[in-house]
Amino acid sequence: MASRFDELIDRKNTGSVKYDLAAILGMPEDILPLWVADMDFKSPDCVVEALIKRCRSGVFGYSDSGPDYFDALKTWFANEHCFMVEPDWLVKTPGVVYAVNIAIRSLTFESEGVLIQEPVYYPFAEAIRNNNRKLSVSELCYKNGRYSIDFKDFEEKILNDNVRMFILCSPHNPVGRVWTRDELLEVGEICHKHGVIVVSDEIHMDFVFPGHKHLVFSSVKPEFMQNTIICTAPTKTFNLAGLQVSNIFIPNKDLRRAYKNELSKSGHSQIGIMALTACKAAYLGGKQWLAELNEYLLDNLNFMCDFLHTEIPEVKPVAPEGTYLVWLDFNELLLSEEALEELIVKKARLWLDKGTMFGKGGSGFQRVNIACPRVILEEALSRLKKTIRG
Ligand SMILES: Cc1ncc(COP(=O)(O)O)c(C=O)c1O
Repeated sequence: MASRFDELIDRKNTGSVKYDLAAILGMPEDILPLWVADMDFKSPDCVVEALIKRCRSGVFGYSDSGPDYFDALKTWFANEHCFMVEPDWLVKTPGVVYAVNIAIRSLTFESEGVLIQEPVYYPFAEAIRNNNRKLSVSELCYKNGRYSIDFKDFEEKILNDNVRMFILCSPHNPVGRVWTRDELLEVGEICHKHGVIVVSDEIHMDFVFPGHKHLVFSSVKPEFMQNTIICTAPTKTFNLAGLQVSNIFIPNKDLRRAYKNELSKSGHSQIGIMALTACKAAYLGGKQWLAELNEYLLDNLNFMCDFLHTEIPEVKPVAPEGTYLVWLDFNELLLSEEALEELIVKKARLWLDKGTMFGKGGSGFQRVNIACPRVILEEALSRLKKTIRG
């Protein structure tokens, strides 16, 4: 049976970063983009309708959210993630990357280190470097096709690099891990012991495959609440990245005061009214749509894994537990970084994200975005097979 997510939407000439930047960035014209983390799907009807209704009012003066906005968030996080939020904790920012930058500037000094677990979403390292903090890296361990945390190294990095903040990616982009309670507990306890603030980027929290469960970091142990900043957003979940809104929860009032102070110094005041409208509508009415989407993504994932297994077994997907980004291991092909890039971009004409963007541990890997209609994924895999077999 056809799914609404099978619809092919022409995103060219819409200002899409994914589809309209190829020529500008020196990519072949006919490249198939499966890189940046947005989806080739329409947002839920409830969102589109709410935006049209708001548009029809024709008045777009300075606006902010009311209690109904917070109620929509509160219900979503309580029902979907057993995460009970309070109105005071909420700070809205125009994106999670923006929020991470503000956290670094407001809660650490230039002499202090900020820790990340590579391979990881590359704007974290950029934010640390751009704000002149010391970049501290604890590499994730890759063994038997799965990533895990080296807790000893994690603690040593905190001590050796004068670490004051840790940026957790949960679920983890790009390696697709959904961290277990034990892992979060151990990480949290180490951070708590050394007075390290945890910025927990949970933007992918609504994409978890069967058999796994996302746990909001601060709900793992009550003590974690006071040194944690939880970053959430409706933008990945409901494909609203171009609207730019994120909801950051900071239970500790001193951290929140410092954070808001820095936000205000950056010149930020309100979030755009369209973003607020879409966010509220999505959290109120998007549950069924999301359930269908997650089924579709699971089918895409299974389709891709089966295809690789039978047709190109040298390319190994790192079993994803969450997110719609899959980390592909090309190391069996024994290619240099340049040769792998040439194979993917020039020969297969696929635009993925090359592994080394996420840290040196990403060598030999590529990240693929499977949030697209099945035919696009089929085309991508067939191009890859033809190139590797050819
Ligand atoms: C882990 C992670 N954090 C943040 C973002 C971007 O968030 P925003 O667009 O709200 O800045 C992404 C997008 O891919 C992501 O994967």
